[in-house]
Amino acid sequence: MALIKKKAEDAVLPEVLPTHVGFIMDGNGRWAKKRGLPRSLGHVEGAKNFKKIVDYCKNIGIKYISFYVFSTENWKRPKEEIDGILKLLREYLVDVQAHLGDGVRAVFLGDKSAYPEDIQKAMVKLEKDTAHHTKMTLLLACNYGGRDEIAHSARLIAEKVQSGELKPEDITEKTIADYLYTAGMPDVDLVIRPSGELRLSNYLIWQCAYAEYYFTNVLWPDFSTEELNKALIDYASRGRRFGGV
Ligand code: IPE
Ligand code: IPE
Ligand code: MG
Repeated sequence: MALIKKKAEDAVLPEVLPTHVGFIMDGNGRWAKKRGLPRSLGHVEGAKNFKKIVDYCKNIGIKYISFYVFSTENWKRPKEEIDGILKLLREYLVDVQAHLGDGVRAVFLGDKSAYPEDIQKAMVKLEKDTAHHTKMTLLLACNYGGRDEIAHSARLIAEKVQSGELKPEDITEKTIADYLYTAGMPDVDLVIRPSGELRLSNYLIWQCAYAEYYFTNVLWPDFSTEELNKALIDYASRGRRFGGV
């Protein structure tokens, strides 16, 4: 495997990078607990790290990055914690354009309707304002669940069948993919999950069918660009066969 110097901090990286890297940002709560801090402060640190990792991915030239921000199951958490996460999302939506700079298209994955109206409006505006950018696509999974997404796709397809626009026998894998929140985006190549948990937790389950996985015990607020380099080097050494030989 050839390693070359990419411009970001002179990182030594593989020549071939994954097209789509998915991040499951886990371990914020444990990061705070270890320091005797409230969980909400773990989310504050996690959000800071999210910005750092987005900047780095843009710098080294990754085309698609997705982040698990909030799952359909995370509503089970205490109200105080959910309110803290909503506050962070609101704050981010205010300065997001300044953070992303030129060239980044932002897309939300998930059901926006669960969010307060001001947040929904800011999400739609961001998607609209950045729709023409082509350097990198940032996918933000908010109120996202993989099963929920597939059920949503099935409902949309059922409507098309009901209206006569589509025949049941014409429904293929591509039809289902075309009605997912990620319609038109490439599947995930590499999933990175920090915090030591070895599971997907309902993240992009359709799009990860042939993804490679990288797990680390580091907690998300501590997940550094060096750690990301390690994941990218590890990814480059994998033999992906997609069922072939
Ligand atoms: C991930 O960190 C952030 C969200 C799920 C919103 P956690 O809050 O799950 O952190 P741990 O797993 O409790 O450490
Ligand atoms: C997955 O983390 C969701 C996000 C990172 C947003 P969780 O902490 O909710 O996952 P589980 O409960 O450990 O599976
Ligand atoms: Mg967790």
